[in-house]
Amino acid sequence: MSKIAVLGYGVVGSGTVELFYKNKDKIIRSAGTDLDIKYILDIRDFPDSPYANKFTKDFDQIVNDPEVTIVAEVIGGLKFSYGYVKACLEKGKSVVTSNKELVAEKGAELLKLASEHGCNFLFEASTGGAIPIIRPLHQCLAANDITAIAGILNGTTNFIITKMINENMAFGDALALAQKLGYAEQDPTADIEGHDACRKICILASLAFGKHVYPKWVHCEGISAVTLEDVMYAESWGGAVKLIGSVKRTDDGKILPMVRPAFVCDNNQLSHISDVFNGIMVYGDAVDEVMFYGRGAGKLPTASAIVADIADAAKMTVTSISQTWEDSSDDSFIADYRDDVVSVYVRVKGVPAEKISAAFGTVEYLSREGQPADELAFISPAMKERDFDAKLEAIDGEVLGRIRVLELE
Ligand code: HSE
Repeated sequence: MSKIAVLGYGVVGSGTVELFYKNKDKIIRSAGTDLDIKYILDIRDFPDSPYANKFTKDFDQIVNDPEVTIVAEVIGGLKFSYGYVKACLEKGKSVVTSNKELVAEKGAELLKLASEHGCNFLFEASTGGAIPIIRPLHQCLAANDITAIAGILNGTTNFIITKMINENMAFGDALALAQKLGYAEQDPTADIEGHDACRKICILASLAFGKHVYPKWVHCEGISAVTLEDVMYAESWGGAVKLIGSVKRTDDGKILPMVRPAFVCDNNQLSHISDVFNGIMVYGDAVDEVMFYGRGAGKLPTASAIVADIADAAKMTVTSISQTWEDSSDDSFIADYRDDVVSVYVRVKGVPAEKISAAFGTVEYLSREGQPADELAFISPAMKERDFDAKLEAIDGEVLGRIRVLELE
């Protein structure tokens, strides 16, 4: 019998408890051992909850209870979670979490701690919501040399972009709806500015390439500068604007992780992923490419991954040796994004075409409905980003938009 404690009763925590009791028999069959939730930690009171007798405000009660062998951390952030998770692992209790910030910032340390104490630190729910991606990456794809990963990793921004395009919804209204549906972070800036996607690509990069990739080392841009005009040009070009998190191995043996909005062409499956859905492409030398798709945020989709990790933790008798990576002390293995070769979409005002040709050579011009006479939009030839920057500066005009084109790996 494994007793479980759930730390946090917000969207994901309440979903975890709900799903556990809804499918308890099936989950116990999968775990191969009896399971029950003994505690739910939250500072709030839930007197009318059917689980009222399980609530506690006292973390010490949980960490000092030898019956509790599995802890689900779904509080989020680092403030309380980091200390709680460390304390549980030090007591040999396995921890499962949906907390991407915790894994992206402290993953190497917590994985080491789990290994030292013969338990597990599992985080399938931290990336891609309901999508199985962590376990496939280190188990099903273990035979591959992974060369790149690219995906839509944030449900909130994909939901906002979709609502803006398909329903002409204003940015603020789409964000408010995403918050109401429980998709957005407590501070939605983390979604909008790409920090959430950045944490997720750090987790995938660390797992795929074996060294901890810290978010501070990753070039990260969100969607706040993307306009409806940019989206219209993307459509006329034959694609869509998506917030893409990616990592790839570079020719010099480094890796290049990055988060940015991108023009994604229609023959790339990522361009068709809408609403809160996430999609992740993994490129490997044996599989060529595989794609993972599903709901990237939300109560029960995220709880699905948490509860599956609980069942896994219950049946694991030793620490997983494949779901781990080393810590890293500096960023010497991270490539400079300015050396990456890219084509870029540019929208300028009041710049004559001759000036654009003089700087960039032959470019592909785009058009849109309602395009003002003094506006030009084009796709540059592929070149190193630092060379592109120099040329763009040389045309000396008002730049209204610039978005990289996502290359197929
Ligand atoms: N805010 C996150 C998202 C939640 O929208 O993807 C799931 O990690």
